[in-house]
Amino acid sequence: MKKLVVLTGAGMSAESGISVFRGGGGLWDKYPVEQVATPEGYAANPALVTKFYNERRKQLLEVEPNRGHQLLADMEKYFQVTVITQNVDNLHERAGSSDVIHLHGELTKVTSTWQPNNPKFIRELSSEEYEVKIGDLAADGSQLRPFIVWFGESVPMIEKAIGYCENADIFLIIGTSLNVYPAAGLLNYVPAHVPVYLIDPNDVPIASGRKVHVIQKGGSDGMEELMHLLTDEQ
Ligand code: OAD
Repeated sequence: MKKLVVLTGAGMSAESGISVFRGGGGLWDKYPVEQVATPEGYAANPALVTKFYNERRKQLLEVEPNRGHQLLADMEKYFQVTVITQNVDNLHERAGSSDVIHLHGELTKVTSTWQPNNPKFIRELSSEEYEVKIGDLAADGSQLRPFIVWFGESVPMIEKAIGYCENADIFLIIGTSLNVYPAAGLLNYVPAHVPVYLIDPNDVPIASGRKVHVIQKGGSDGMEELMHLLTDEQ
């Protein structure tokens, strides 16, 4: 089976009712990114940051994977699919995707404030535990923090993601403005002969000038078109 490697961003979950980050009405308009998505913001006001991620977590209980997520999971019938996502929600997994790499962490997990990337301290929350409180401690005695990669922090999963990009037979980008590195640079690791598709209802500038087959549609309609394009070729 050919290897289909997919990079997804917030637009993938937009049709499930989760806000994107940038542009009119995006999440970063409502919550200053420096306050809720940086280590400095967390150090300054852990209660505010904890509340912000509690709200995001609770939203997970109210949303469902959309048709785009489902079609992507269905692609496993035809391809060996790896999803590299910048999203911290669990909608790819809930739609049935079996190989998902979360570059920016996972809302359903918490970790140690002192050693956030130490696997010993990363823990999956049950839905009853989604409301983390100040005073809830990790196994090393530090405050539990969200398992989220904040701006200015390293992205431990990037090396694994690069490996998949280097070995892709087909590369697909869905619903990301490609503003945030290192995720936005992954396309540069995809070999030149590999076809690249991009699904997004808006224009997404590709810095490298690489030839990309653009499907200018939302995630669900875009996935439907792509599915025909790729599986009719099989
Ligand atoms: P952005 O909010 O920057 O971009 C969302 C993209 O989704 C845009 O290109 C939109 O045009 C597109 N879009 C909107 N509706 C769509 C739909 N129905 N179907 C498909 N695409 C749609 O989000 P990201 O690029 O994911 O990081 O942002 C990257 C990172 O920046 C996030 O992971 C987050 C953020 O700050 C952290 O929190 C660390």
